[in-house]
Amino acid sequence: MVSYKELGLVNTRELFAKAITGGYAIPAYNFNNLEQMQAIIQACVETKSPVILQVSSGARKYANQTLLRYLAQGAVQYAKELGCVIPIVLHLDHGDTLELCQSCVDYGFSSVMIDGSHHAYAENVALTKQVVEYAHRHDVTVEGELGVLAGVEDEVSAETHTYTRPEEVEDFVKKTGVDSLAISIGTSHGAFKFKPGQKPQIRLDILAEIEQRIPGFPIVLHGSSSVPQEYVDLINKYGGKMEAAIGIPEEQLRAAAKSAVCKINIDSDGRLAMTAAVRKVFAEQPGEFDPRKYLGPARDLLKELYKRKNSEVLGSAGKA
Ligand code: G3H
Ligand code: 13P
Ligand code: ZN
Repeated sequence: MVSYKELGLVNTRELFAKAITGGYAIPAYNFNNLEQMQAIIQACVETKSPVILQVSSGARKYANQTLLRYLAQGAVQYAKELGCVIPIVLHLDHGDTLELCQSCVDYGFSSVMIDGSHHAYAENVALTKQVVEYAHRHDVTVEGELGVLAGVEDEVSAETHTYTRPEEVEDFVKKTGVDSLAISIGTSHGAFKFKPGQKPQIRLDILAEIEQRIPGFPIVLHGSSSVPQEYVDLINKYGGKMEAAIGIPEEQLRAAAKSAVCKINIDSDGRLAMTAAVRKVFAEQPGEFDPRKYLGPARDLLKELYKRKNSEVLGSAGKA
C-alpha cells in the first residue's frame, strides 16, 4: 500500500473548489508514455497550471501500471526541476470495477473514476457508493458518471448519446457521496464526434439545468477534444487518411469551463498532434530512424497544444 501523499500528489478536492469559484477547469490529459508525460508537465509548468494526469485501462495494459505510477511520481520531481511546484493529480480514467479502483487507491492514485454509466441506475449507485467508501478511507477522491456518451469508451460502445437526466443528479450525488460527476451533454470520445453536415453543438442547456439542481458541485466533461483542423490537415498532407474528423468547438468548452465544469478530459487532440508531427518527419526525412528525431517533435507539438488549451480554452493558466 502506497499513499499518494507520500508521492507528492494531491487529490482533486481543493483544486475543484478553486476551479468552480474561479470560473475555470483543470485539464485532465491522458498519458501512456514518457513523451506524453513530459509534454504535459512542461506545458503545465510553463503555464503555471494544475493538472490531472489520467491513466486508462488501455494505458495500464499498454505501458504497465508500475511504470506509469513511477512516471507520475517522477513528474512531481520533474516539475520542481523545471522550476515550478504545480498540483499534480494521478487519476484512474474510466475504472469499471470496484477491484480496479481499490488497486489504484492502494497503488498511489489520488483520484479514481468509477464509470457505472452503462449499468442500470440502481446498480450504478451501488457500485459507485462502494468505491467511494473505500477511496474516502484513504482520502482519495472519486468521479462518478451519469448518462452515456456516444462512441467507444474502452471496450464498451454506444451508438447514440443518453443524455444525463438532470432529475437524477441530486439523488445520485447524495446516495453515492461522489466528489465529482461526469455528465453526458453531447460530447463523445475520439476524433469523429459529429457527422459531416451536423452542427457541432453540446447541450449547455442540460448543463445549466444540472447546475441548478446541484449548485457548486464539481462537474466533469469527457470526450472534450476539439479536433483542430490544422492537425487533421497535416496528417492528411503527410500520407494519413482522416476524413470528416470533427470535435467540440473550443468556444463551447470555454463557456462550460466558466460554469461548474471543473475538469475537462482531452486525449484525442494530443494523439492528433503527435501523429501529425511524426508523419511530417517521416515524410520529409525518410532516412530518419532515431526515435528521438520523431518523438521529440511529437512531444514539442503536444506541449504547444496543451499550453494553448490551458491558456485559451480551460483558463487554468496561472492558477497553480
Ligand atoms: O476515454 C478514453 C481515453 O481517450 C483513453 O483512451 O482507452 O484508448 O486509452 P484508451
Ligand atoms: P477525447 O477522445 O475527446 O479526447 O476524450 C478523452 C476522454 O474523455 C478521456 O476520458
Ligand atoms: Zn472519457
